[in-house]
Amino acid sequence: MDSQSEVIAAFAPRFMYVKDKMLITGGRPLMGEITVSGGKNTAVAAIAATLLCDEPCTVENLPDIDDVHALNEILQSLGAQVDYVPGKYLTVDPRGVHAFRVPYALTKRLRASYYMLGALLGRGLRAEVAYPGGCDIGSRLIDQHLKGFAALGARIDDRGGMVYANAERLTGGDVFFDLVTVGGTINVMLAAVRAEGTTVMYNVAKEPHIVDLANFLNSMGARIKGAGTNVIRIRGVQHLHSTTYAVIPDQIETGTLMIAAAATRGDVTIHGCIPTHMEALTAKLLEMGVRVTENDDSIRVRPQGEQRAVNVKTQVYPGFPTDLQQPMTALLCMASGTSSVCETIFEQRFKHLDELRRMGAHIRLVDRTVLIEGVRELYGAPVTVTDLRAGAALVVAGLMAKGVTEIYEPSYIDRGYERIEDKLRRLGADIRREKL
Ligand code: EPZ
Repeated sequence: MDSQSEVIAAFAPRFMYVKDKMLITGGRPLMGEITVSGGKNTAVAAIAATLLCDEPCTVENLPDIDDVHALNEILQSLGAQVDYVPGKYLTVDPRGVHAFRVPYALTKRLRASYYMLGALLGRGLRAEVAYPGGCDIGSRLIDQHLKGFAALGARIDDRGGMVYANAERLTGGDVFFDLVTVGGTINVMLAAVRAEGTTVMYNVAKEPHIVDLANFLNSMGARIKGAGTNVIRIRGVQHLHSTTYAVIPDQIETGTLMIAAAATRGDVTIHGCIPTHMEALTAKLLEMGVRVTENDDSIRVRPQGEQRAVNVKTQVYPGFPTDLQQPMTALLCMASGTSSVCETIFEQRFKHLDELRRMGAHIRLVDRTVLIEGVRELYGAPVTVTDLRAGAALVVAGLMAKGVTEIYEPSYIDRGYERIEDKLRRLGADIRREKL
């Protein structure tokens, strides 16, 4: 073991109980071309939606990530036949699904397990699903989901960490969300596509994966209009037929790679992405003085001298995505001047700040705004991942830092990024994983 690892082993016993760590030697500009994977947040919604189909259906371009694997296990636990070739396709035959209960042992692995509520309700008018797990970034209520189900005629009972939902029938109705919720919009869509009559959903989320899910369901014969706008109209149908559908590329992985390219002052072209999904980040990078060039399905990020401090405020789409708040904070740690990053969506999405401070970042948190005083250098250090996008932030910081950064609990990162080390290594990063 080298001297730094000996110090870590001696003075940080907590690290001794995790199974592996990621090692990054920073200071190398990322150079070259990479292709982004399919979208995590669109994939988990599409996989849940396969339960609504009356025949086998196939989803392509799924990322090979733990959240996809966990959802596949949930489908199989309910009786679905699953044919899954990682990185290629997933075919789900839901005709054997007669169960409607998903226990905490399965739901605790990912937030998106709550989509089983809408899918099982929409499929068989009954669902018993334990409250989900997922990243600890705030309260993450699901009251709006339950309100939407009730508006369609479902009876909801919420006790002992379980949600019990059932209905004689689901009938179309008006759903007014009190706040914009991605999960609530998706879950109520899943319950409504086979309801009797028309459902109109107001104040809905407009993220790209909402539109992608609507397109997927419509390719099965659903009748959804307005996805991507403030109002979604759904005319319930009796039957949903087989389809093969490729999900859109991952907006957040694209953004994370763009930020990593800027952070290392590299020259990276990201292929297979959708530049219009990236506009809020692109605008901020241009404001910083980073050179960003867009083509039909690729984005090139290059350095252009000094990177200026900027102010960021997370918003629902098409605003700056909350999922890029943490990697962006890492990038701004070495911008010239003082930046601010205001997190308006999740009240506790700040656990990465302590870890960035260990690397020499000058950061203060005032209410829900991070104030970042740019420094000339970050230094490698042992750090621990607390949630998926905090992990992305620490990878970005490790790529920027002088020396070696040891990232513990990297398994969080595997939930949402497909083989991130391989992608970064292909761009010239010195990054590897080591068993402890
Ligand atoms: C989805 O989470 C994503 N997860 C998150 O990505 C993403 O950060 C978030 O949308 C916002 O874009 C998946 O798609 C699996 P919300 P979700 O419902 O659905 C409150 C990642 O890193 N709220 O839009 O949980 C809630 O507490 C993950 O990939 C209610 O109060 O987000 C939060 O403060 C992290 N009641 C805010 O709304 C509700 O019924 C936004 O939540 C629902 C939500």
